[in-house]
Amino acid sequence: VKVLDGKQSAARVLEEVARGVAELLAAGGRPPHLAAVLIGDHSASETYVRGKRRDGEKVGISSSDHRLPESASTEDVLRLVAQLNRDPTVSGILVQQPFPKQVSVAAVVAAVDPAKDVDGYHPINFGRLALSQPGVVACTPAGVMRMLDDAGIPLAGARAVVLGRSNIVGKPVALLLLARNATVTICHSRTRDLPAVCREADVLVVAVGRPRFVTKDFVRPGAAVVDVGVNRVDGKICGDVDEAVAEVAGHLSPVPGGVGPMTRAMLMWNTLEAQRRRQA
Ligand SMILES: NC(=O)c1ccc[n+]([C@@H]2O[C@H](COP(=O)([O-])OP(=O)(O)OC[C@H]3O[C@@H](n4cnc5c(N)ncnc54)[C@H](OP(=O)(O)O)[C@@H]3O)[C@@H](O)[C@H]2O)c1
Repeated sequence: VKVLDGKQSAARVLEEVARGVAELLAAGGRPPHLAAVLIGDHSASETYVRGKRRDGEKVGISSSDHRLPESASTEDVLRLVAQLNRDPTVSGILVQQPFPKQVSVAAVVAAVDPAKDVDGYHPINFGRLALSQPGVVACTPAGVMRMLDDAGIPLAGARAVVLGRSNIVGKPVALLLLARNATVTICHSRTRDLPAVCREADVLVVAVGRPRFVTKDFVRPGAAVVDVGVNRVDGKICGDVDEAVAEVAGHLSPVPGGVGPMTRAMLMWNTLEAQRRRQA
């Protein structure tokens, strides 16, 4: 099996971003700035935000953290988002999920200025993706595509199966594969004969959120398998794809070291692009 090396691809993306930032500055522009909103105390989010700050430092993107207490209301979050929308020094806004249950995800996502929506979750950006118009593409789906492209995996005419239909991973990945002329099937918890449907795939993208759910019998020999899953089992991180899939797949992305670093790198990419558009 060939490893879809997310660390290597992500490093390449970050180099491109660093060059882009340098060009922006050389043209007299402002450096990109990413504002992260954190609600309550989530250790996973903290790790993500720390990683994001380190990535930013490498490429010349500064960042700020804006914290709200676990007890924050939807209105509290909306007020902070409105302030960041107005702030001319802020290129991109990331509102870290999960939210406390009293905070409306839909209301907050829709409140972010679509031009600063570096997560690509705003209905306008999702709509643009669905309409094949230029817009911000969510980081994980964009990272999956970049990873496939860096490995030279052909998509036009290929059979692609996406396992999972979430708004943040499955659906956008399926739209991106479709835009690249793959023949796309989307599977979910109600799909009949799931292993057989997955076995049709030349490219199988798995975002199901269940540890080692995809076993060898889901995979056609030689298929490219991208594992988006991040699960914690006995204190260790594992993906949605069983390790034994490496015995049949042609390409396989590891967890950790696969889609995770790509997601972080694409966030930097989206932040650079947001600042570029502001200055265009
Ligand atoms: N690496 C990264 O940067 C990154 C980013 C985002 C997410 N993730 C990880 O990716 C995974 C998926 O995330 P998500 O937000 O897309 O998850 P999600 O919102 O929970 O969606 C999971 C999808 O899997 C489907 N599913 C669940 N159980 C199934 C089963 N037994 N058979 C078939 N389909 C099943 C669900 O079907 P229904 O729709 O029918 O319920 C749903 O569409 C998680 O492990 C998450 O941590 C990683």
